[in-house]
Amino acid sequence: MRMKVLIFAVVAVFYVQSAVGVDTHEHNKVVCYWNSTAFDRQGPGKFQLDDVRSALSLCTHLVYGFAGINPDSFEVVPLNPTLDTGVGYSYYKLTTQLKRSFPDLKVYLSIGGNADPNDEAHKYLVVTETAESRSKFINSINRLLNDYDFDGIDLAWQFPTVKVKKQRGTFGSLWHGLKKTFGYGKFKDDKEQEHRDGFTILVRDLKAQLRPRMKALTVTVLPHVNSSVYYDARLLAPNIDAVHLFTFDQKTPERNPQEADYPAPIYESFGRVPQDNVDATTRYWLENGTPGSKIVVGIPTYAKTWKLTSDSQISGVPPIVTDGPGAEGPHTNIPGLLSYAEVCSRLTESAVGRLRRVGDPSKKYGGYAYQPYNENTGEDGIWVGYEDPDTAGNKAAYAKAKGLGGVVIYDLSLDDFRGVCTGDKFPIIRGAKYKL
Ligand SMILES: *[C@@H]1O[C@H](CO)[C@@H](O)[C@H](O)[C@H]1NC(C)=O
Ligand SMILES: *[C@@H]1O[C@H](CO)[C@@H](O)[C@H](O)[C@H]1NC(C)=O
Repeated sequence: MRMKVLIFAVVAVFYVQSAVGVDTHEHNKVVCYWNSTAFDRQGPGKFQLDDVRSALSLCTHLVYGFAGINPDSFEVVPLNPTLDTGVGYSYYKLTTQLKRSFPDLKVYLSIGGNADPNDEAHKYLVVTETAESRSKFINSINRLLNDYDFDGIDLAWQFPTVKVKKQRGTFGSLWHGLKKTFGYGKFKDDKEQEHRDGFTILVRDLKAQLRPRMKALTVTVLPHVNSSVYYDARLLAPNIDAVHLFTFDQKTPERNPQEADYPAPIYESFGRVPQDNVDATTRYWLENGTPGSKIVVGIPTYAKTWKLTSDSQISGVPPIVTDGPGAEGPHTNIPGLLSYAEVCSRLTESAVGRLRRVGDPSKKYGGYAYQPYNENTGEDGIWVGYEDPDTAGNKAAYAKAKGLGGVVIYDLSLDDFRGVCTGDKFPIIRGAKYKL
C-alpha cells in the first residue's frame, strides 16, 4: 500500500513537471523576436508572416512584438489593431497557429519593448503602483489568453533609462529632441524603490494566474534600463521562466551623436563605462540569485551607424568622432540603422559604397566597418557597428561557457531573411544557434 502511494506520488510529480513544461531547452534557447511592424516597410525590407516561417526551424521561441498598455484602463491592447487582431490579417491568431507546423515552438506575446508610446503619466510606472492597477492589467491578460493561444507573456517593461553622460563638443543640443522618443525626457524617478517593488508584486501575481494555465512568463530588460535599480532579481527568479537581456544599443547615434563606439560588446573595453556590456549585466543577474538557465543573452541583427566627417580620425578605430546618425539604408529607411542584409551587401570588393571591414579577433567587442570621409568629393563617410554570424556565435559561446539559458535575437526582420549575403536565410540566428 505504502509502495503504491509512493509510486503514485512519484508518477504524479513527474506528470505535473512534464505538464508544466519542464524546459526542454534549458541551455539552448534561441528566442526570436519579431517586430511585426516591419510589415509596414516597403520593398525588399517588408517582412511578413511567411518570412517568419523560414526562421522557425532555428528558433525555439517566437516572441511577437509588441502589445501596449491603455493609459486609462491599464489593459493590454494591440498596438497595430488592424494587423494584430483585425479581420484582414489577425496576426495574433495566425502567429499562434504556426505551432501546427512547428509543434515544439513556444509563442509569446511581448508587452512594451519601446514600441508603446509612453505618455506624460508614465503608465508603465503607474501600473506597478497600486493593487487595483496591477489587477486591471493582469485580468486583461487573462482575457487575452482566452482569445489567443499564446504560450506565454513577455514583459519588456518600459522603465526609465539611464541618462546619457555629458558629451563633449557643442552639437549636443541638436539631438536633444530625439531623447523624447525614449518617453521619459528629463524625468527623474523619485519612486524607484516603489516601482521596483510594485513590479516584483505584479510579476508574482501575474505568474500566479499563468501557472495553472501552464503559461510562461518572461521579463525583458530593455537597453539602458539599469537592472539593479528596477529588477529585484532574487525575488523575481522563482516567478519567471527567463530574463532576456537586451544588452545592445549601448552606444547609439541618438544618445551619443558625436562619438561612435562598439554598440554591443561582450566585455568592457579600455576606458569605457564598466556596466555597458553583456558580461556586466549577466553577472548582476547571476550574482543576485538567478539560475544561469534562466538568463538569455541578447543579440541584435542590425547595425548602428554614425556619420564620419572631416573631423573624424581616418583610422576608423573607435571611439571615433562623428556627427550624428549615418545615412539610412535603402530597405529600412531609418537614419543610424542598417539591417544585416544592408551591411553585408556593402562588404564585398565591388560594392557601391563599399565598407572596410574590421573583424574582432579578441571575440570581446564585436566588429565594425566603415567608409571614411572623402576628402576629394567632400562626401560624408559612415561608421557601422554591427553583428555578423561570427560575433553572434561569440555571444552564444559566451552563454554556453557560463551555463546560461541561450540567446535572444532582436529581431527577425533585420537579419538577412532573404538570404542575399551567402544564400542562407537568417545567417545571424544560424551563427548563434550552432555555437550553443
Ligand atoms: C519596428 O519596425 C518599424 C518599421 O521599420 C520601426 O518603425 C519600429 O521602430 C520598429 N520597432 C521596434 C520596437 O523595433
Ligand atoms: C545602476 O544603479 C546602481 C545602483 O543605484 C549604480 O551603482 C550603477 O552605477 C548604475 N549603473 C549605471 C550604468 O548607471
